[in-house]
Amino acid sequence: MMSNELTRATHILYTGGESKLPIERPETPPIYHSTANIIRDMDDYDFASNGGKYYYCRTANPNRDGVAEAVSYLEKGEQSLVCSSGMAAISTAVLSLIKAGDHIVASRSIYGETIELFDNILKKLNVEVTYSDFTNIDSVRESLKPNTKILYTEIIANPLIEVVDIDALSELAHGIGALVLVDSTFTTPLAIRPLEHGADIVIHSLTKYFGGHSDITAGSITGSKKLMKKIYSDFLLLGGCLDPNSAWLMLRSIRTMEMRVTKQFENARKIAEALQADPHVRYVNYPTLPNHPQRELAAKLMPNGCGAMLSFRVEDDRNKVNAFMHKLKLVKYLGTLGGYRTTIAHPATAFRNEFTPQKLKEMGMEEGLIRISAGAEAVEDLIADFKQALTVFENV
Ligand SMILES: Cc1ncc(COP(=O)(O)O)c(C=O)c1O
Repeated sequence: MMSNELTRATHILYTGGESKLPIERPETPPIYHSTANIIRDMDDYDFASNGGKYYYCRTANPNRDGVAEAVSYLEKGEQSLVCSSGMAAISTAVLSLIKAGDHIVASRSIYGETIELFDNILKKLNVEVTYSDFTNIDSVRESLKPNTKILYTEIIANPLIEVVDIDALSELAHGIGALVLVDSTFTTPLAIRPLEHGADIVIHSLTKYFGGHSDITAGSITGSKKLMKKIYSDFLLLGGCLDPNSAWLMLRSIRTMEMRVTKQFENARKIAEALQADPHVRYVNYPTLPNHPQRELAAKLMPNGCGAMLSFRVEDDRNKVNAFMHKLKLVKYLGTLGGYRTTIAHPATAFRNEFTPQKLKEMGMEEGLIRISAGAEAVEDLIADFKQALTVFENV
């Protein structure tokens, strides 16, 4: 209670900040917006700064810790850090685990901006990166150097939905004392938990399936206590921590993740099968299809479903592909993935500024390649939508 003797200008700065009644166990956690908590004295500061209690938001925040606990549980990891985006998670993890003169072998099929991070920022720090075909373990082996410290990959590679043999990769890396960093955004812990396959660090763009509603930008890093301690000290300096409001929303979204994502996986498989049977579709990339070159590996690594991402190829005709996009009634073209509604993207357009048309073709990103992020709708509505829109490819 504030004294009525204070002047109005002071009183208004202090009044109303304390709850009037005791608050017991609310059904949902409160949002701890406060950037700082009151410190009683110097001893209390020492206690807080040694991890005894919350005192500054960038250092630790209860909402962020709640998300970290959920991610660690899902990934069966010892500890997690929750970052302000997937890119913040990737850059924090990689920058804290390398030093000048180190070498990284990275899959050539990773997220485009991760490649830019490696090429633009790591290069300035004198860290060399070699890109390799991670679907071919011999190619990865040939890329190793005596100073290789990290093997960096995604398990399902965009946009051709190739599968990486994470068990073989971990064995190779650990044989030379290198770490395996996996961006498991596309797979989610519901398809595979990379730490159980020997990976040292698993990273997510939580913006995608964890958030699931296309309304939160966030990322995570999970690993052993020993490695996470190293990463945490740089995380504090790089400053890419998630804000409490987004962390609160993220934990709420994670509550329904299994329901959403299980349905999304199932829808992806059924859409893949329906598109494969459509006369206007040349081929479909999805790991459960009989023609997928790594079908057996995918079934071994991901027995509960191979993710909700697929791609398919139609005629390489820009006008018709545009007409197809216009003709879709439910499905929208979006620059993200993993939301509860089905979306498409056009890889050749997304990578147009980074690669020449020839290089795009060599990488399998022809004009007629369309990527789908399956949502949680009734699958028959999605299949009907795709089928009616595919009629634009009919040759009249
Ligand atoms: C596989 C993958 N990793 C990382 C990212 C970056 O995530 P964010 O946009 O949350 O920074 C993305 C974004 O699309 C992604 O697809």
